[in-house]
Amino acid sequence: MSGLVVLKIGGSVITDKSKPFTYREETVKRIGTEVFRCWPTSLIIIHGGGSFGHPIAKQYEISKGYKELRQLEGFVKTMQAMRELNSLVVKSLVDAGIGAVGMPASLLFVTRNGVIETALLDTLFAALDLGVIPVTCGDVVFDREKKFTVLSGDNIAVYLARRLRAKRLVFAIDVDGVYEISRETGDKKLLEELDRRKHSTLLYQEADDVTGGLFNKVDEAFNAVNDGIEVLIVNGLVEGRVEAAVKGKPVKGTKLVK
Ligand code: IPE
Repeated sequence: MSGLVVLKIGGSVITDKSKPFTYREETVKRIGTEVFRCWPTSLIIIHGGGSFGHPIAKQYEISKGYKELRQLEGFVKTMQAMRELNSLVVKSLVDAGIGAVGMPASLLFVTRNGVIETALLDTLFAALDLGVIPVTCGDVVFDREKKFTVLSGDNIAVYLARRLRAKRLVFAIDVDGVYEISRETGDKKLLEELDRRKHSTLLYQEADDVTGGLFNKVDEAFNAVNDGIEVLIVNGLVEGRVEAAVKGKPVKGTKLVK
C-alpha cells in the first residue's frame, strides 16, 4: 500500500499519565480534526495505554506472562481498560468527523514470547478498503508461550507499517522528539535526525512503563527505517504537528534515518 500512513498516538498524549483513567478528550478531538484534514490519505491509527492500561498491567505483572491465578484478574481488567480507552478515542475521532472503527489488538494479534506470530487482519484490510480508519491500540494479548503478555502500540505500529509497506510511520509523543542530553552539563538538544549508531549512544530516561518507553520505541522503529519507511517522531500535544507529519510536510521533530 504505497500511500499508507501509520500513526501511533502515545498514551502520554491521549491520557494524563500521572493520574489513573484520565482521558484527554479535547486533545484527541483536536488531533482528529488534524487527521480529518489529511483526507484522502489512507491511514491506520494505533494508540497507547497511558493511564488506562499501564497501571493495571504493571500491578499484575502482565508482561511477565502467566505465573499465578490472581493475574487473570489483571489480564481481564487491563483488557477492559483498553477497550474503554479505545472506545473513547474512536468516539472523539468520530466527533471530529472521521470514519473510525475500533479494533482492539487483543482480537487481532497472538504473540509468541511477546513477538507477533499471528495477525488476523481481514477486518483491518476491509476497513481500509472501505476508506474508514482502523483504530487499534497497545493491549493485552494471548501469547503461545507465556499465555498472555502486553503488546505495545509501538510494536503494532512498526509491524503494520512493515507488513503493509506503509510510506510513512508517525509517532506522536508528549515531547518534541528525541533529545541528546549532555552527560557533562545535562543540556538537552532536539535531534532533527537520528541514525541507529547515534541512538545506541544516547542517554534515555528510565521508563516506568510496562512496555519500555522511548528507547524501545526508537529501537523498534529502526526496523521500519531499514525497510525504507519514513519514520517521524513529533509532539502530539502541539497543534499542527501531527497533520504536518502525516502529510509529509516540514515539521519540528525527529526523523529516523539509516
Ligand atoms: C501499552 O501500549 C498497552 C498496555 C499497557 C496494555 P503502549 O506501550 O503503546 O502505550 P503507551 O503509548 O506507552 O502509553
